[in-house]
Amino acid sequence: MTQHRTAFGQNETSWLPCPELQRAISRHLPRARICMTPLRDVPEIRLWLLNADYCSEDLQAEDIQRIMRYPAYWSFCWASGQVLARYLLDNPELVRGKTVLDFGCGSGVAGIAAARAGAGRVIACDLDPDACLATRENAALNGVQLELVADFWQARDPVDLVLAADVLYDRANMAWLPRFLEHANKALVADSRVRDFAAPGYRRIAGGESRTWPDLDEHDAFRHVSLYLGQRPAPDHVTT
Ligand SMILES: C[S@@+](CC[C@H](N)C(=O)[O-])C[C@H]1O[C@@H](n2cnc3c(N)ncnc32)[C@H](O)[C@@H]1O
Repeated sequence: MTQHRTAFGQNETSWLPCPELQRAISRHLPRARICMTPLRDVPEIRLWLLNADYCSEDLQAEDIQRIMRYPAYWSFCWASGQVLARYLLDNPELVRGKTVLDFGCGSGVAGIAAARAGAGRVIACDLDPDACLATRENAALNGVQLELVADFWQARDPVDLVLAADVLYDRANMAWLPRFLEHANKALVADSRVRDFAAPGYRRIAGGESRTWPDLDEHDAFRHVSLYLGQRPAPDHVTT
């Protein structure tokens, strides 16, 4: 039996660690451990995440270089992902019975929340194969089923709603915002990094506070998350 000290000082007993994710992280960060972690702002969901004290330990220069070479985004739950998950669980009518695609799923937190809120089908995609693995393991941990694709365009069936949490740290991903609305009627984007977000078809509908976990001690500004709803424009009426 393994005793894990989980986030927020609670002790949680886990009979089994997650060997596949432990192997995935150990390849790049040998001193890191993957622990079952309850989310402070979304207590309905637990995730396999990096041990909370890893980032506060005395990291050697070599550790920092390893992190730069392999930023294991999937081993954190980002503030935007938590705010989006909270919003979906509090507003289940947004996803109930719908086909939802979680773009840049990382740990899978947004897709898992959509499934828990009653989505009919959830597809998750991430260009990092370890993120797909993490999403699969986290879905199992939370008792939901998600389909995984490595690439957005592999999801060929129609999608009702695209979710995207904290993917705009890479400004090249702004180009995906109009594509989401070509593929789906709606998109819900959670972001705390882009100032003056102004994408055609999108409007801010809500906001929330959270922090990335394990705590990266990010600037306070990155804790204020905005939710933007994008809607495909209605087709022009043909007049005769
Ligand atoms: C900061 S993490 C956010 C993860 C999760 N959505 C959350 O909020 O916790 C960003 C994730 O998006 C993925 N990503 C970035 N650009 C992507 C792209 N163009 N297509 C698919 N995944 C992408 C990264 O690999 C990473 O796992």
